[in-house]
Amino acid sequence: MTLAMNDDLEALKTSTDAALAGAADLRAWDAVRITVLGRNGSLTGMLRDLGKTPPEQRKDRGAALNRLKDALTSAIETRKTQLEDAVLDARLLSERIDPTLPPRPRETGLIHPIARTMEEIAAIFGAMGCTVVDGPDVESDWFNFGALNIPAHHPARADHDTFYLPPRDGSAPPVLRTHTSPGQIRTMLAQEPPIRVIVTGRTYRADHDATHSPMFHQCEGLVIDRNLTLGHLKGCLIDFLRTFFAISDLPVRFRASYFPFTEPSMEVDIGWNRRTGELGRGGDWLEILGSGMVHARVLANCGIDPREWQGFAWGMGVERITMLKHGMADLRPFYESDLRWLRHYGFNPLSPTMLHEGV
Ligand code: DAH
Repeated sequence: MTLAMNDDLEALKTSTDAALAGAADLRAWDAVRITVLGRNGSLTGMLRDLGKTPPEQRKDRGAALNRLKDALTSAIETRKTQLEDAVLDARLLSERIDPTLPPRPRETGLIHPIARTMEEIAAIFGAMGCTVVDGPDVESDWFNFGALNIPAHHPARADHDTFYLPPRDGSAPPVLRTHTSPGQIRTMLAQEPPIRVIVTGRTYRADHDATHSPMFHQCEGLVIDRNLTLGHLKGCLIDFLRTFFAISDLPVRFRASYFPFTEPSMEVDIGWNRRTGELGRGGDWLEILGSGMVHARVLANCGIDPREWQGFAWGMGVERITMLKHGMADLRPFYESDLRWLRHYGFNPLSPTMLHEGV
């Protein structure tokens, strides 16, 4: 009797299960849900009709309807989860990427040769333990000259073709830094030794022709430690030059010279062929940078005791070594933003060639 009374409930469960199984997507699933549980749905109708059931059967019928409602609700929810999972699986499959594939970037920009050289310099000296420090383009006379042992009226000042700015308060006029060497002073004042830094950046001198620009770039190096010798300086610069120019037997010569801020001072030459312009064992020498042991007075100017600490330093022109490395004859195009030149000499930002070559 009870069973027969609830046959319609069994039938609804069976037909709903079949309809759910046949619902291939969420839209079909939603149609089934509305047919059963919606305002005019089959189950909703049965619940509404409970009142018409004879009172003695109502309790059992009500309980059976509630069980059916739970069962259908759960079956409907389960199917929904299945269909959502299937949608996600299909999407994951279609959007699958292989993270081991190399990137295929669309190239939009190239690295300027100056920036590239500065990156290479930083990478090579970085491997030797140097960090890169920065300094302002506008310097006081003291940082640019005085602290570096170039006092007023010193003949070395004449070599610098300095751009002077209007004086601020009766003191010596500030200058556009003529070299990156003031970075040495700033570093020694800011850091306790031992010190290993390079300073790269813009420098300015009133000079303009095929190999000089009023604005150019330098890279300075400074190492301060105990028991440093000329041998350390030489080893460090030979390694740098051979790595940078990627010529493992590049001849390197140290020639006695003079800078006010180093004692002794040396200019550094590399081998090349004057006729062809090719670097290496060409029999000729080309001056490439200045260097020396930091002058005791410069150390003392920065509060470092020269009896306890020694230092060596070097300075070079970024444009110059870039032109030599890449066979560029004229310096001026570096700053002219000519796209044809930039496309020819620019570097792909994602192709780290040079840093893996060398010695
Ligand atoms: N400041 C020098 C210049 O601009 C280059 C230089 C030479 C820097 C010797 C140094 C050094 O640190 O030791 O010509």
